[in-house]
Amino acid sequence: MKRPIAAVTGTGHSVPRHVMTNHDFAAIGIDTSHEWIFERSGIVQRHIARDGETTCSMAADAARKAMTTAGITAAELDTIILSTATPDRLLPSTAVEVQAALGAARASAMDLSAACTGWLYGLTVAEGLIAAGTIETALVVGSEKMSAIIDWQDRSTAVLFGDGAGAAVVRRSDGKRGILSAYMRSDGTLAELLWRPSGGASNPFSLPVLEDRSTYVKMAGREVFRYAVRSMAEACDRALDGARLTGADIDLLIPHQANVRIIEATAKHASVSMDKVYVNVNRFGNTSSASIGIALDEAIRAGRVRIGDTVLLCAFGAGLTWGSMVVRL
Ligand code: ACO
Repeated sequence: MKRPIAAVTGTGHSVPRHVMTNHDFAAIGIDTSHEWIFERSGIVQRHIARDGETTCSMAADAARKAMTTAGITAAELDTIILSTATPDRLLPSTAVEVQAALGAARASAMDLSAACTGWLYGLTVAEGLIAAGTIETALVVGSEKMSAIIDWQDRSTAVLFGDGAGAAVVRRSDGKRGILSAYMRSDGTLAELLWRPSGGASNPFSLPVLEDRSTYVKMAGREVFRYAVRSMAEACDRALDGARLTGADIDLLIPHQANVRIIEATAKHASVSMDKVYVNVNRFGNTSSASIGIALDEAIRAGRVRIGDTVLLCAFGAGLTWGSMVVRL
């Protein structure tokens, strides 16, 4: 087994206070039902940002909690990697806003765009920077205000997503704890299965694109579902092979929280029983790149995993992107 180079030494998460249940969609004129949403996705409620809550504010809140558990101050951060599909503005990055909010004066800061897989990509980039000797300490945050980019008139996507942030401090390993394997993939030929067609530089915001609602998330749900099941299975295999482990060695599987049916299929493929799978999609919906960070932090704080335990993380998202990681906590 590989000697780990980088370790997760602290985690934190943050979600908006406002909770929206499946029943609340009736009040905004969406033709759906709790039964439909719950049966198809496992989602019961999601947290929705309000009152000035932003991608930056949620990221900074999660980051402060992660730094507290890691026992470090912002002054010790060498770099901040913020994965997000919902930056607060297009220029500059939201990561530099987080840097300013934290007072991380010595750090570099960058956004990373890999949709729901972004937080795992971020951990992998942090590991690489530590391995290269460029940095010693990174903050990796996934923060998403999905409520700002979903079409609240489109029932096929509006019911699925939620807002929140998950964060981890990543530092040079003591050689025992840390990332045992990582796997990253993408397939840009499938980009149009899950995308925002307009609003970027190729088709900027204009009256016509606002009117045809093409700045909002569009998703071919059934196709995405099929690729998600296949990609998450492959990702689990690759991370387990990379760490020379099997599903039996895993103390907790934390898959991206998009849909409980995808989670169950992934667990079955990896031969991990559902009592060793962390599920919180019922309470948060799909928070994109925040989902695994939120779940890992909850699992640690609830005592579902402890220092020395081995977790398998796997994700899938727009791009398409997918990836996985085995971490000894
Ligand atoms: N309420 C009621 N009915 C609905 C709703 C709704 N909210 N949304 C769609 N329907 C209807 C459709 O119109 C369709 O009706 P029709 O048959 O009369 O045309 C019917 O329900 C079935 O729709 P499908 O989309 O085929 O339903 P499906 O069983 O595939 O479930 C779902 C939809 C939950 C979106 C599923 O496809 C899925 O989970 N896909 C993967 C999504 C995903 O994981 N995305 C995120 C991954 S990447 C990332 O996280 C960014």
